[in-house]
Amino acid sequence: MVETSFISCRINVRQQVEFLKIIGGSASEALASKVAHELDREPAKIEFNKFPDGEKYLRILDDVKGEDVVVIQSINRTPDEFLVEYLLIVDTLKDVGATKVVGFIPYFAYARQDERFKPGEAFSFKTVSKLIEIVGTDELYTIDMHKHRVVRSTDLFKIPSQNLTAMPLLADYVEKTGNLQNPLVIGPDAEAAQWAKVAAERLRTDYDVFEKKRLGSENVQIRPGKLNVKDRDVLIVDDIISTSGTVVGALEILFSQGARKIDVACTHPILVGGALEKIYETGANNVIGTDTVPSPVSYVSVAPLIAEQIKKAGFR
Ligand code: R5P
Repeated sequence: MVETSFISCRINVRQQVEFLKIIGGSASEALASKVAHELDREPAKIEFNKFPDGEKYLRILDDVKGEDVVVIQSINRTPDEFLVEYLLIVDTLKDVGATKVVGFIPYFAYARQDERFKPGEAFSFKTVSKLIEIVGTDELYTIDMHKHRVVRSTDLFKIPSQNLTAMPLLADYVEKTGNLQNPLVIGPDAEAAQWAKVAAERLRTDYDVFEKKRLGSENVQIRPGKLNVKDRDVLIVDDIISTSGTVVGALEILFSQGARKIDVACTHPILVGGALEKIYETGANNVIGTDTVPSPVSYVSVAPLIAEQIKKAGFR
């Protein structure tokens, strides 16, 4: 099983958070404002525009000379655009004299292509990681990054990096909304064991993991786990819901085995096409996601998680 969080290099822990600037890329402006609010400050100003041919234009309006800057930018929905934006922001910050740039990439796209599965394919995860380093990211934080086969971040990042988890926040929300009674937590595939374990511990309950075989980008084959789900409330947890093939497969099995009420929680609600509708049509009681990817179900904000980490690391 892969670890839930990792630290590839030691990150300094200081107590004071002073002089720090927080900048949100256009994929995460609202999230960056929330993080700044948690830290009693205003986000730094940045202007975004597009040239007539579609190229991105941006200008950092605050003076960041000699400052540590936190850049918050999920690489979601239109990943190529938001990746380029992240690269432009970080490179510009370094050019105009920022001392240290700390990247928070709550949703890290391209992580699922974490291997060259067929000869000649792009190993996208490696390429994107390289770009993020080359522009001058000094430290990197991700949240529930998909790293199925890449177990250790040192295999990919040479800079200090840490993968945080939003599962405790999601589990707390599920407990607080009180829809489920003593739920069994289910991870729909082997990788999800790490998240199911964290959520189950938080909810002081048990968990099980299904087996998944991917047949195509939208089709999966799922086999049930060992625990009896009859008449149990269930919480399915995963890192990403994209097409919802995985979650729908898990829901069908759980209902066929007699589960009572099922909530679905994920960190990154990408929800392409009619994914959300499919989940509800299959009978889910509630779908809950975080704001790493803004969506109609982003009820849980990861702002406290990011703010807490900034405080712990004590960037100057
Ligand atoms: C894959 O292993 C991930 O953890 C998710 O289960 C997957 O990305 C979900 O994708 P989809 O919603 O398209 O099935």
